[in-house]
Amino acid sequence: MVNHDASHEWQSADATQPVSVIHGDTREVLRSIPGETFQMAITSPPYWGVRDYGYAGQIGAEERLEDYIATLTSVFREVRRVLKNDGLFWLNTANCYTSDGRKWRDSDAKNKGRAMSYRPDTPEGLKPKDLIGIPWLLAFALQQDGWFLRSDIIWHKPNCQPESVRDRVTVAHEYLFMFSKSEHYTFHQSAIVEQTADGKGQKNKRSVWSINTEPFAEAHYAVFPKALVRPCVLASTQPGDLVFDPFFGSGTVGEVASELGRRCVGVELKPDYVEIAKRRVRKAQPEFAGIA
Ligand SMILES: C[S@@+](CC[C@H](N)C(=O)[O-])C[C@H]1O[C@@H](n2cnc3c(N)ncnc32)[C@H](O)[C@@H]1O
Repeated sequence: MVNHDASHEWQSADATQPVSVIHGDTREVLRSIPGETFQMAITSPPYWGVRDYGYAGQIGAEERLEDYIATLTSVFREVRRVLKNDGLFWLNTANCYTSDGRKWRDSDAKNKGRAMSYRPDTPEGLKPKDLIGIPWLLAFALQQDGWFLRSDIIWHKPNCQPESVRDRVTVAHEYLFMFSKSEHYTFHQSAIVEQTADGKGQKNKRSVWSINTEPFAEAHYAVFPKALVRPCVLASTQPGDLVFDPFFGSGTVGEVASELGRRCVGVELKPDYVEIAKRRVRKAQPEFAGIA
């Protein structure tokens, strides 16, 4: 973890500003945030053993799967504390396979950040080539930890990466889980309705969302498509509400929040990404000179 005094972290994020980016280890920053601060949280945590962000303290580089799940469970326990009692938490995560004995991952042309100098061992009880089931392991861990697991949304990616496999189908989806802090919570159902097939009426939004991934030149990893974040923000918040992303990356959530008139706080450990996020949000809303 980055070594610094976390007590002033939250104070440095002026929550009256439209978007604040806090540079730090989310585990430390979270400790400095008062309870029941945010109306919603949404994030895509670093995946396990998939990308090497290349710095100490990064989450996702744990040797053991159990440690990865335990780390994220404790991060998200803190997220639950800082969420308002009627708030929602949206968690995007993807599955992966055991390594088949390989100890590294090659870079690929489309996605240089996927190169890893190591790969974790096959978790106990699994075999080479097994699908690990990380999204559900994490979802069940969070459920056991006190979250209400309310929806599993399939994010279908029509423009998914091709895979050079010949013995299974190509993965074209990720998961988006919706968790609540309480049994009853705020959900603006009518803000995200879908059109009926004949185009004449409206229906409750369905649990499969087809959204293309959006390339983002500045970051060497997959960023959230804005179209994935938008319905979550609309369903969970009203204009002026405060949104939180504990793994801010390039700041997609900040950009969407400000476009929709919501305020946002993001935490990111890598200084380069903090700068990208600030630039990006400033570009979206140039009058937001007050970015922390
Ligand atoms: C999957 S990316 C998030 C991408 C983001 N949704 C976007 O649209 O750009 C995960 C991010 O978590 C950051 N990260 C990893 N460990 C962290 C930690 N301990 N504290 C804060 N950020 C961390 C990584 O640097 C990376 O930017």
